[in-house]
Amino acid sequence: MTRKKVTIVGAGMTGGAMAQRLIERDICDVILQDDPQFAGTMHFGKALDESQAASWEGFSSHISATDGWEETKDSDVVILTAGAPRKPGMSREELLNSNAAIVKAKVEQAAQASPNAVLVIFSNPMDAMCHVAIQASGFPRERVIGQGGALDSARYRYFVSEAVGVSPKDVHGYVIGGHTDTTMVPVVSQTLVGGIPLKSLLTSAKIDEVVSRTMRGGAEIGELMKVGSAFYAPSAGTIAMVESILLDQNRLMPCSVLHQGEYGINDVCSGTVVQLGEGGIQKVFEMSLDPSEQERVTAAAVATQDLLDQLTI
Ligand code: 2OP
Repeated sequence: MTRKKVTIVGAGMTGGAMAQRLIERDICDVILQDDPQFAGTMHFGKALDESQAASWEGFSSHISATDGWEETKDSDVVILTAGAPRKPGMSREELLNSNAAIVKAKVEQAAQASPNAVLVIFSNPMDAMCHVAIQASGFPRERVIGQGGALDSARYRYFVSEAVGVSPKDVHGYVIGGHTDTTMVPVVSQTLVGGIPLKSLLTSAKIDEVVSRTMRGGAEIGELMKVGSAFYAPSAGTIAMVESILLDQNRLMPCSVLHQGEYGINDVCSGTVVQLGEGGIQKVFEMSLDPSEQERVTAAAVATQDLLDQLTI
C-alpha cells in the first residue's frame, strides 16, 4: 500500500509544528518544502530532527525536506503556510499583497506537481489567499480550503470551557465569517455545552467577554510572544482538517470555502461549516443564524471582497 503524502509549504514555526503533529499521527509521509533564500537549510534540519524522533514516538512514516517540487509530486494534500506571519500590532490584512505574490507562485508550482491535491490555505489574510490559490491552481472549491475557522473555533471553545468550567471537548461552538479580528463571527446563538445552550449558562456580559477575547485571539498571543505569531493551536486546527481528509473521517469543521449562495454570498471565500473527507469538501453547510449574526457574516464577505479589490497581482 502506498502511503498518503502531504506537502507542507513553508517550514517556519507553524509549518514545523504542523509537520510534527502530522508525522506523529503516522498516517502519511510529510515533505517540508521551503526556499533556501528564506529558510537556508532550516527545513532540512527540522525534517532530520523529527525523523530521529521516530523510535520513541513510534511512527514509521517518513518526513523529508526539499527546495524544489519534484519530491512533492502527487501529494494528496498540500498545506500552504508560506509568506510572512503577522508581527505584534499588525493586522492579518496588512500582509495582503506581499503574501499574495508568494502564495500565487507557490500554488502554481504545487498544483503543477500535484494536480489532484487538496490545498489547505493557512497564509494570511487567509480568506483572500484562498482566492489567490483558487485562481493560481484552477482547482474547484472542494479542493481549496482555508484554515481559520478551525483555529478561531478552537480558541472560542477554550474560552467558553474556561468560563463555564467544563472540558473543551464538551463545547460545540463554531466561528464562521472572516478570519480577521473584526470579521469573525462566533455563532453564540448555536453554541451548546453538553447540549445546553451557552446563553443559559453564562451572562451576556460574560459571553461578550468570551467573544471579544476569541476575536483578538491571534493578536493576544502575538503581543505575548513579541516575535512571530501563534503556532500551537493553528497547527492543531490545520492537522485536524488534514486528518479528516486523509482518513475520510467526514468531520464537520468551520473552514473558508468559496461561497456559492450560502448566506446569500456569492463568489467570496468565507467561513462556514463543511464536511471534510477523501478529496476535500464533501458538503457545505449553512448554519442557522440570528439576524445580527447574519448581518456580520454578510459584512465579513464584503470586507474580504474589499481586500480582493486591493490585490495588485
Ligand atoms: C492566528 O490567528 C496566525 O492567523 C493566525 O494566530
